[in-house]
Amino acid sequence: MKVSVIGAGHVGATVAQRVAEKHLANEVVLVDIVDGVPQGKALDMWESAPIEGFDGKVIGTNSYEETADSSLVVITAGLARKPGMSRDDLRDKNAEIIKGVTEQVAKFSPQTKIIVVTNPLDVMTYVAMKVSGFEPNRVFGQAGVLDTARYRTFLSMELGISVRDIQAMVLGGHGDDMVPLLSYTSVSGIPVTQLVSKDRLDAIVQRTRQGGGEIVKYLKTGSAYYAPSAATVEMVEAVLHDAKRLLPCAAWLSGEFGLKDTYAGVPVVLGKNGVEKILEIEMTDAEMAMLHESANHVKETIAALKI
Ligand code: NAI
Ligand code: 2OP
Repeated sequence: MKVSVIGAGHVGATVAQRVAEKHLANEVVLVDIVDGVPQGKALDMWESAPIEGFDGKVIGTNSYEETADSSLVVITAGLARKPGMSRDDLRDKNAEIIKGVTEQVAKFSPQTKIIVVTNPLDVMTYVAMKVSGFEPNRVFGQAGVLDTARYRTFLSMELGISVRDIQAMVLGGHGDDMVPLLSYTSVSGIPVTQLVSKDRLDAIVQRTRQGGGEIVKYLKTGSAYYAPSAATVEMVEAVLHDAKRLLPCAAWLSGEFGLKDTYAGVPVVLGKNGVEKILEIEMTDAEMAMLHESANHVKETIAALKI
């Protein structure tokens, strides 16, 4: 198994580290345009192997030859948000970067699957799918796993109950109009509405929507990467282990939920073929309306792309 991670910045390097330390691949290749950075970070990571107890190689490079025949590629290359920037502000600059990166990835690994992380997430996933020419099930994006993790964490803080006992799913685009599904949020099967007041739930939903911005405000010069890399690696593991995990991921929609020709976060089964199934679950009218609004925002941003 070879996993290539494009972009050796905060998210990319942490993804590479987690993949190596979880023994998910026998080769992790870290690629960046900046000379020395992927080489230095990869060697530093590899030198932790005797202590962390992993046997895989960690290679850093500025070229794509070493990524050839990757089982899976994670794209994190691009610019991150600074305070005051929305994810959509990154659109045009990152679209150019994703185009160039994807051409190289597809050339050297024509059979691979791609997980996109770069923002604006749903739109960049579309760019990678179009430029690669891959079937849509092989190109999907990470957002919902992170947004759901934030939502579960905030609920756990509120209730004083383990995050492990909180089940939830956040759908829609990876923007401030994402859709936390209250109707599917439970604590060991108990509907969350029995345990948390409406006002507090509304506040938690709002905090989840602005969860990325909350970290940007603290960091000032960049955005979150510990939870984003953990979320990405949960998807990497699902694919490499053919685990058939049911996770909220950005997937290409062709009529599901009444939506088509756009990416949006929906419940998918992730396995060795990438997105193996999209589950068209029932939801309330209000949740469905929010999903449509969020997905339509992604569609408009795709239409405004200049690539
Ligand atoms: P970063 O600035 O730390 O790293 C980005 C890296 O990409 C840099 O090392 C840069 O040199 C590299 N890069 C730029 N152009 C490249 C190219 N053409 N080829 C190869 N490498 C290139 O940023 P960070 O924090 O790692 O974030 C990366 C992206 O991920 C951003 O767009 C950010 O908004 C997004 N993100 C998305 C999340 C999600 O849930 N989908 C969560 C967190 C971040
Ligand atoms: C996040 O949600 C910036 O999209 C990134 O943290």
